[in-house]
Amino acid sequence: MQLTHRPRRLRRNPSIRSLVREVHLSVDDFIYPMFVMEGENSRVEIPSMPEAYRFTLDLLIKEIEEIYALGIKAIALFPAVPEEKKDLRGSESFNPEGLAQRAVRAIKAVVPDIIIFTDVALDPFTTHGHDGIIDDNGVILNDETVEVLVKMSVSQAAAGTDFVSPSDMMDGRIGAIRQGLDANGFEDVGILAYSAKYASAYYGPFRDALGSAPKSGDKKTYQMDSANAREAIKEVYLDIAEGADIVMVKPALAYLDIIAKVKEATNVPVAAYNVSGEYAMIKAAAQLGWIDEKKVMLETLLSMKRAGADIILSYHAKAVAQILASGYCF
Ligand code: PBG
Repeated sequence: MQLTHRPRRLRRNPSIRSLVREVHLSVDDFIYPMFVMEGENSRVEIPSMPEAYRFTLDLLIKEIEEIYALGIKAIALFPAVPEEKKDLRGSESFNPEGLAQRAVRAIKAVVPDIIIFTDVALDPFTTHGHDGIIDDNGVILNDETVEVLVKMSVSQAAAGTDFVSPSDMMDGRIGAIRQGLDANGFEDVGILAYSAKYASAYYGPFRDALGSAPKSGDKKTYQMDSANAREAIKEVYLDIAEGADIVMVKPALAYLDIIAKVKEATNVPVAAYNVSGEYAMIKAAAQLGWIDEKKVMLETLLSMKRAGADIILSYHAKAVAQILASGYCF
């Protein structure tokens, strides 16, 4: 055949392939989500998330030293709040001595250069498990909730967090939090906005990890409808206008089209959350011997980079860092 183009020339061997590869995975891409619990010297594996743990603070710090040595520079911190600390309004969320606040101070004292993203939402702190304050009819009250989220953000900033990460999907919270941070002298604390967060069944294992599943109803009056793409751009634009430094799409895998659209439509870094259910699916299929865990994991994460994610929150981050450190050849 007389072919002008033979695309296979660029696939002949690993060296050529790596020269023309469009995206790469690096430890720089990742934020590692981690769960902290009360107590000492213990870690509990999350049943629906093999090899992911809730750590007591002492062991969490050891784990952070380990992942930092592997090159992971950022974590997202989620506290497992004891039932007796929960109430209807999530007041524990802004307790300066709360678990998240204590954890931030303790981590920064030992690993000062790790970048901490703290979660801002009420669900781990409310008895009903919703991300906001509820009225007698079960309606999530937007503006009342935002007031608490501002207090929570300021208390996390006072503890020394680098970024607050509102994952609640209340309207107007980014602007209110930005104002609250600035008014308290925390101009340098950033905001990672969960801008396009969908009402997804993929969060199940995470809610097991924190015991934070809603006791009644679902989250569809605040989290987005899975069918909507254009609405994601509306949410992202609002958050950027209100002061978001980084915007996020969540979940990632079933929403790669949204990641691509958000990347196209914005000029801020775009994060993607490879959520608990996505992690669980790979782990479960691998345990059954049905897929090659390592290859499927890397291919999945690469799809998020290719879609446009600058940053990936993933429970696989430590495993990826170990693979990269071993000189793995793609
Ligand atoms: C809390 C929050 C959730 C997740 C991150 N922050 C759960 C939810 O919104 O119900 C999910 C993360 C995951 O599934 O890995 N607002």
